[in-house]
Amino acid sequence: MIPSPSILCRPLRPDEADEACALARAVFDQFVAPEQHDKGRRMFHAFAQPAALLRRHRTRYTTWVAVEGPRVVGVLHLHARNHISLLFTAPDCQGRGIATRLLRTAAEAGGFVAPATVNSSPNAVGFYARLGFAPDGPELLKNGVRHQPMRLPALPLWGHAEPRDLPGAP
Ligand SMILES: CC(C)(COP(=O)(O)OP(=O)(O)OC[C@H]1O[C@@H](n2cnc3c(N)ncnc32)[C@H](O)[C@@H]1OP(=O)(O)O)[C@@H](O)C(=O)NCCC(=O)NCCS
Repeated sequence: MIPSPSILCRPLRPDEADEACALARAVFDQFVAPEQHDKGRRMFHAFAQPAALLRRHRTRYTTWVAVEGPRVVGVLHLHARNHISLLFTAPDCQGRGIATRLLRTAAEAGGFVAPATVNSSPNAVGFYARLGFAPDGPELLKNGVRHQPMRLPALPLWGHAEPRDLPGAP
């Protein structure tokens, strides 16, 4: 795989909150919402509003973005440095190592530490498993949101953490 030099991962700037949240909601609607109840969809959309996200920064949350040029292509929202609250990659950029790189960047800055947890959407369980997360109990339904609690005992070696171009990409 060829590393993609055009992807940069860094902390969110406040003026990017609208775009980052719009990305999270759009990717959620496409990949996650079909498996969720209406109540869960509403809960998520309320959670992924820019004002709410920026407000949470006052209470131990941090947010990281992957940008390609002026465009936000990935977003990671962490609570207390060890719980993944949001992790989304733009559909046309998935499979390029962006989500992994977001986690690695946060970890290298001391902003993501293990043991860590995530309430994974059912479709993302395989992604987290590749990083070393393991199911922590059965799938749950809470506030209308179906999720698989998962736990990462130690940070991975980040073997696939360089953003890369897709095979065949120019
Ligand atoms: C899950 C998600 C964030 C992964 O983002 P990404 O940038 O495509 O992830 P990466 O490119 O870093 O993937 C790393 C590896 O995991 C694999 N992978 C990615 N998504 C996967 C999935 N859903 N299931 C199984 N494996 C997956 C990739 O193929 C890659 O493998 P490789 O290193 O052998 O090539 C992205 O697919 C997404 O936004 N999904 C929809 C929203 C979602 O479910 N978010 C999680 C909410 S908890």
